[in-house]
Amino acid sequence: MTGDCYITTPIYYVNDEPHIGHAYTTVLADIVARYRRLQGSEAFFLTGTDEHGQKVRDAALENGLDPKTQADRMVVRYLSTWKTLNISHDDFIRTTEARHVRLVESVLQRLWAKGEIYFGEYEGWYCVPDERYWTEKDLINGTCPDCLRPAERLVEKNYFFRMGKYQDWLVGYLSDHPEFIRPASRKNEVQGFLRQPLGDLCISRPVERLDWGIRLPFDRRYVTYVWFDALINYLTAAGFQSDDQMFARLWPNATHLIGKDILITHAVYWPTMLRAIGLPPPRAIFAHGWWNVGGAKVSKSTGNVVRPFDLAAALGSDAFRYFLAREMAMGHDADFSDELFHRRYAGTLANGLGNLVHRLTSMIIRYCAGVVPEVRSVSEQEIDLRDRCMRLVDSVFENVDALSLHRALREVEAVIRDLNRYVERNAPWTLYKQGDFEAVRKVVYTASEALRLVSILVHPVMPDKTREIWQCLGWRPDGELTEGLKWGTLRPGSTATRRPPLFPRVE
Ligand code: MSP
Repeated sequence: MTGDCYITTPIYYVNDEPHIGHAYTTVLADIVARYRRLQGSEAFFLTGTDEHGQKVRDAALENGLDPKTQADRMVVRYLSTWKTLNISHDDFIRTTEARHVRLVESVLQRLWAKGEIYFGEYEGWYCVPDERYWTEKDLINGTCPDCLRPAERLVEKNYFFRMGKYQDWLVGYLSDHPEFIRPASRKNEVQGFLRQPLGDLCISRPVERLDWGIRLPFDRRYVTYVWFDALINYLTAAGFQSDDQMFARLWPNATHLIGKDILITHAVYWPTMLRAIGLPPPRAIFAHGWWNVGGAKVSKSTGNVVRPFDLAAALGSDAFRYFLAREMAMGHDADFSDELFHRRYAGTLANGLGNLVHRLTSMIIRYCAGVVPEVRSVSEQEIDLRDRCMRLVDSVFENVDALSLHRALREVEAVIRDLNRYVERNAPWTLYKQGDFEAVRKVVYTASEALRLVSILVHPVMPDKTREIWQCLGWRPDGELTEGLKWGTLRPGSTATRRPPLFPRVE
């Protein structure tokens, strides 16, 4: 992933409030968008809500609301959670918005006119919570193979998208574009899925069974299947058929971040739909693993939800963002527990980074009259440290490209540990007592400059805390932040400020 980017999260169902799983994809996308901006690229970041379909209609019924009111209420919860978590999206799309409904109708009309959609009879097993059909052999003892809830037998006249005819094309596309679906384990999963014949996709629901959706423009007795409606959001927000210039700039750079639960819809349905529309697939699809609690996937139906609001309230939004990015290795599941979150906070953030900031600010104030000192000459140690920091800049961006945020942060942590060690080894407090002020200045400046550089590298992860670090060091980016990634940008003479602990200790 290089150059400009259009980065998206899935749009979330408004049947319930956001939990840690939704927060994860959104924070991940936010961090990637911020890294891109830090590199001086354009990053257009989209998130939003999926408001049609049976799930939302059922939740509304349960709450005694009409579906639109249910959606309006939940959207507020999503928006306020994203605000708390400092999410910097450029657009927030709701599938009930007129701009989206218009595009879905137009796409349907076009595909109908081209013969890509036909009317037929469907008989099969349907999983209501997952909103998808299964064949007899997919079922496990009569239950949905995905969520293990009972499937219903349905016979219905419906509209179908000729998805099956794109199977060979998709198989070829996947083998010609090995970087399209990542990580590789997920690409293999999709390739495995495509070894079975790919059927056509039922894209309608009769109104008498479900009336909460976008009506088919060519048959008002039906609403559009929620997934066919939802996937098109990525085109609506990119300006397809409404802003050609924007669309031409964004679409070739589209990267969809998703959880592994919605891999097939994104990696099979979506590229075939785009092909029928006459558009190329997005540039990449990254599927991450699940957040589990006690070994089970966090989800509304399992009932083991962890709310991002509570976690951000406990240890701060930045600490929560850091935890999410650091804890889940790309392609794997991760376990959440309060204990793990607190341990990471106390160890890495309070004792590691927080301690270093506190120490350096105090040393500038105590030994250097409160201003960043000037250094005349440096020795090998300082040159090594500088080189190590510059190598870190490259490797952090390489890891971000691969969406290996946990690796990027692991390397940052190693440099922070080395910085703490460098300070301890050189003991400026002893040098000061011995009257070797030149040596004190050298150590204090080098460690402070390294800290400043590291803080810029974690700025996309912790936007607020890193600004506090800059205040402590008396540094302010002039112009683009990317300029601050050069060594020697911390100016001697800047005034340091003592601040309350960055990550206060919590019992
Ligand atoms: N509305 C569809 C997506 C349509 S995109 C065109 C949907 N919504 S959802 O509300 O169920 O959210 C799904 C997404 O939330 C997952 O793909 C994933 O990104 C995130 N997560 C939900 N639970 C999760 C975990 N327990 N762990 C990690 N992320 C998961 O599906």
